[in-house]
Amino acid sequence: MPSTRRQFLATSSIALGATAPGLCTSDAPNPTRPLIVSTWPFGKASNDEALRVLTKGGSILDAVEHGIKVTELDTKNRSVGISGSPNAAGVVQQDACIMHGPGHQAGSVAAIEGIIHPISAARRVMEKTPHVMLVGDGARMFAIEEGLKSIDVDSSKLHEAWRKERASKKQAVQKRSKGDHDTIALLVLGSDGNIAGGCSTSGWGGKLPGRVGDSPIIGSGLYIDNEVGAAGATGLGENVMRHCASFMVVDFMRQGLHPQEACLRAIHRISRIDPLATEDLAINFVALDKKGRYGAAGTGTGFKYSVTTKSSSVVLQSPGVTSKDIGPEGGNRK
Ligand code: GLY
Repeated sequence: MPSTRRQFLATSSIALGATAPGLCTSDAPNPTRPLIVSTWPFGKASNDEALRVLTKGGSILDAVEHGIKVTELDTKNRSVGISGSPNAAGVVQQDACIMHGPGHQAGSVAAIEGIIHPISAARRVMEKTPHVMLVGDGARMFAIEEGLKSIDVDSSKLHEAWRKERASKKQAVQKRSKGDHDTIALLVLGSDGNIAGGCSTSGWGGKLPGRVGDSPIIGSGLYIDNEVGAAGATGLGENVMRHCASFMVVDFMRQGLHPQEACLRAIHRISRIDPLATEDLAINFVALDKKGRYGAAGTGTGFKYSVTTKSSSVVLQSPGVTSKDIGPEGGNRK
């Protein structure tokens, strides 16, 4: 067996062994449902709300929307919601998407300004239009027409000031730090075995106006195959988008991998293809499958994610993948 494969299997089995008490991560015939998995410790409050919605008889889509709304409203959060980091012109532009496993439906909004709940706008795009994605002013106008809460945004003055600064080269686009990537991606496996998920973020602080990240791109920031499972991403969106990474994770689960192995496998594969060092990719994934199993993995030291069932709501540490785990160029490409 090539050493890289041995390393991968070793990482996987360590990670698979690191399960939280009371949570179903095995191949148990009676999976724990409902199951909610989301990115980062702040996802826990969203998970708890999603579970509350389900317990009261709400749908899996209601659970995703109302769960994510909790994080969008958190004024301390600097990377999700209207209090997120502004772009280079000083304007907060948000991205969000939602996906419903049954019927394979999706909706998203990108670079939307002044809408308190972009996740709700994404859901309405899915449910009320023949489209999948609306962007910028069109997305904002649609959300306002739908009666969603908004704030006045006069970004024209900010954009003008930015253009002047840029012309005088006083302001460059802010470099993104590896820690600045706290998208919420939230996945729900319902009691009936159906799956839904969503993402929301204000994206890269200091990004160029109009920049869209991975979060609203179906297959990149989120993907659901109702026969298999779901995956969501957080991290440097550009490095997720170039690899259709959430689709890749779900596809690995379709091939029979445990969600955690699928997340690890995707990072290994991306690391082999991508010219960036594994640690510099700064990408992280959560996943769950139809059987009620879940997992996560991130580059470097990994990241924290939240897992909620009726009996437990916990924050867990994912395994990490570093350049040392990847092995030499041209090795066993997973
Ligand atoms: N992952 C969120 C973003 O890069 O915008």
